[in-house]
Amino acid sequence: MKVLIFDDAERAVISAADHIVTALSAKPELVLGLATGGTMLPLYQRLVAQYQAGRVSFAKAATFNLDEYIGIGPDHACSYHTYMRDVLFNHIDIDQSRTFLPRGDCADPVVEAARYEALITESGGIDLQLLGIGQNGHIGFNEPTSSLSSLTRIKTLTADTRQANARYFENAEDTPKYALTMGVGSILASRHTLLLATGTAKAKAVAAMVEGPVSAVCPASALQLHPKATIILDKDAAARLELTEYYHHVHPQGAESAWN
Ligand code: F6R
Repeated sequence: MKVLIFDDAERAVISAADHIVTALSAKPELVLGLATGGTMLPLYQRLVAQYQAGRVSFAKAATFNLDEYIGIGPDHACSYHTYMRDVLFNHIDIDQSRTFLPRGDCADPVVEAARYEALITESGGIDLQLLGIGQNGHIGFNEPTSSLSSLTRIKTLTADTRQANARYFENAEDTPKYALTMGVGSILASRHTLLLATGTAKAKAVAAMVEGPVSAVCPASALQLHPKATIILDKDAAARLELTEYYHHVHPQGAESAWN
């Protein structure tokens, strides 16, 4: 794991955006895995600004989002389809016919999960998968005890996750109970994973992910098995790590190591 720690969230976001811009410059037809949630908002703002400044193009890229709520259509105000259009897709030059999310309003979520996983494979697989982390260590909606080799499937959301996401719904009780999510195995199959975490609320989950045992209790810990996992943190999210001195030594101020 490459652990990059920045003094503040703004610098962490800039670094995450730079990783994506660099990957798109090297491979314009990049297959980019995307996440939603609060942590990603400033990152998508930064990517939009980079696009507007002419520093990046998404014209040839394809995207696959991690997850979508079951029972909610693409035009629902709280769907992740809407989130992605509002914060990113409507503001960049991406061909929206190449932006994919699972369909939460599908007739059969089991069939939809298999279709989505197959679509990722047909695209050649994900080059760069962007991730956030839940306070309970989830990635995508892979809640604790998710199989570490799971593929896209239905997951029941924990009460904590529903509570964390209730802020987006007019009535808290409308927060969906189920989601379609790429599995931990789907995420591990991507060629590079890039996880961004900011704020003290994530510190415990980040410590379990980076320095805890590989365990389904913290699905993000499976990233320890990934050959190319980059973890970008601000110092608040890094606060409970024990080997911080070493991470700073290898990557001072989040810089690449001397070997690169
Ligand atoms: C959603 C997703 C989730 C979030 C996580 C953190 O697509 O992948 O794993 O990244 O729940 O959400 P925030 O950033 O809102 O704390």
